[in-house]
Amino acid sequence: MGQQMGVSCIILAAGQGTRMQSDRPKVLHSLGGVPLVVHALRAAAAVQPDRTVVVVGHGADQVAPVVQAAAPGAVVVTQDQRLGTGHAVRCAGAALDGAAGDALVLYGDTPFLRPQTLRAMLAARADHAVVVLGFRPADPARYGRLVVRDGQLDAIVEWKDADDATRAIGLCNSGVICADRATLMSLLAEVRNDNKAGEYYLTDVVAIARARGLTAGVVECDEDETLGIDSKPGLARAEALLQTRLRTAAMDAGAHLVAPDTVHLAYDTVLGRDCVVEPFVVFGPGVMVAPGATIRAFSHLEGATVASGAIIGPYARLRPGADIGDKAHVGNFVEVKNSRLGAGAKANHLTYLGDADIGAATNIGAGTITCNYDGVFKHKTTIGTAAFIGSATMLVAPVTVGDGAMTATGAVITEDVPPGALAIARARQVTKPGLATKFMDRLRALKAARKG
Ligand code: UD1
Ligand code: MG
Repeated sequence: MGQQMGVSCIILAAGQGTRMQSDRPKVLHSLGGVPLVVHALRAAAAVQPDRTVVVVGHGADQVAPVVQAAAPGAVVVTQDQRLGTGHAVRCAGAALDGAAGDALVLYGDTPFLRPQTLRAMLAARADHAVVVLGFRPADPARYGRLVVRDGQLDAIVEWKDADDATRAIGLCNSGVICADRATLMSLLAEVRNDNKAGEYYLTDVVAIARARGLTAGVVECDEDETLGIDSKPGLARAEALLQTRLRTAAMDAGAHLVAPDTVHLAYDTVLGRDCVVEPFVVFGPGVMVAPGATIRAFSHLEGATVASGAIIGPYARLRPGADIGDKAHVGNFVEVKNSRLGAGAKANHLTYLGDADIGAATNIGAGTITCNYDGVFKHKTTIGTAAFIGSATMLVAPVTVGDGAMTATGAVITEDVPPGALAIARARQVTKPGLATKFMDRLRALKAARKG
């Protein structure tokens, strides 16, 4: 089987995606919280390739760093001129020189391929020199058609080049193709561009292989799996499809989504058993919610960890690095960034906690702000266990408040507070009897004089 010989993946991502009507390269549009090309890289990773080559072109300078960040081992090659899918695969040739085993061609704008489908293709290589992934769409539209005779794939004919009889074929080309790497490159060397589009078609390798006496076969998959994205409505349809799958998977794993259609998940959201997610919650990438936690309505979470029994929201925002401990509470209009809240700690109202470490059972009063940014650097706030931070405390970081310490309401804390101490940092109140009445009378008199 091909897989035992090793496999390389080639991901085509050079297209401009004109129909996206966007300044952004097509494969950088986000689906489930990550760029499309990252979905393709994940599909590739599922077959554990020895090498992965991504062919970029349009917006290469933007696409390459995203690829490198998501898959540091991948090689990025540039296709300077978009001369067709066959030409694009040829561009990957040099980067794969000497690679043993199969090459699998995937696409940066086709995010739903399942690992088992790709494995089925590699397995089918035991019977065929070239294996193509086919599907039977409800509307075959302008897809290339797969011409199969006696179980053998004879050719792939592009819609533009097909006669009526060929256009009547319901079995279509997904574009995904697999062959021995060296064989594929040698077949590609024979591909010419004398067709309606004037392009070097990858699809021509099938007829060339057959002419050489090699065999070719088809593995079929569902239409959904080969869904390619080439427009904003198409992207929205793909997102809806992905969301339905993610929600179903989360519920199957035991999460209680009260109104699933209103909850937006990321591709990697982890929701533990019996955690409750109320309506209208948005999850960005990198969120882990432990079993039994509650995420209340209208909250927004990304890059955050929520422990068991914690309650988040309503209207809370957890940003990257938020680490919310067991049974901790983060209430309405509270933003937490790069901060740990210990077990049972509470920040229930109108608060910003950035770059803070807050001990267990500490209470953060309403309107508290960690002043973590001086305009250039970020600074840390450390608060011990069972401390009490009075409402509207400004914690000017770097600053430390010890275990069991208190700050007075409205305090501006610029110096460390030792354990057990109470810090009062505000002006003493001055009360002037009758002065408010006198002041208002004077203003009203002034207004009357101006009207007259
Ligand atoms: C291709 C197939 C067609 C199949 C369809 C499925 C060929 C000749 N045709 O047609 O049989 O039914 O996909 O969607 O392969 N790309 C590059 N460089 C290029 C050309 C394309 O990187 O020079 C990339 C594009 O970014 C895109 C993919 O390859 O992601 C497919 O190219 P596209 O032009 O969309 O091919 P189709 O005409 O759709
Ligand atoms: Mg296309």
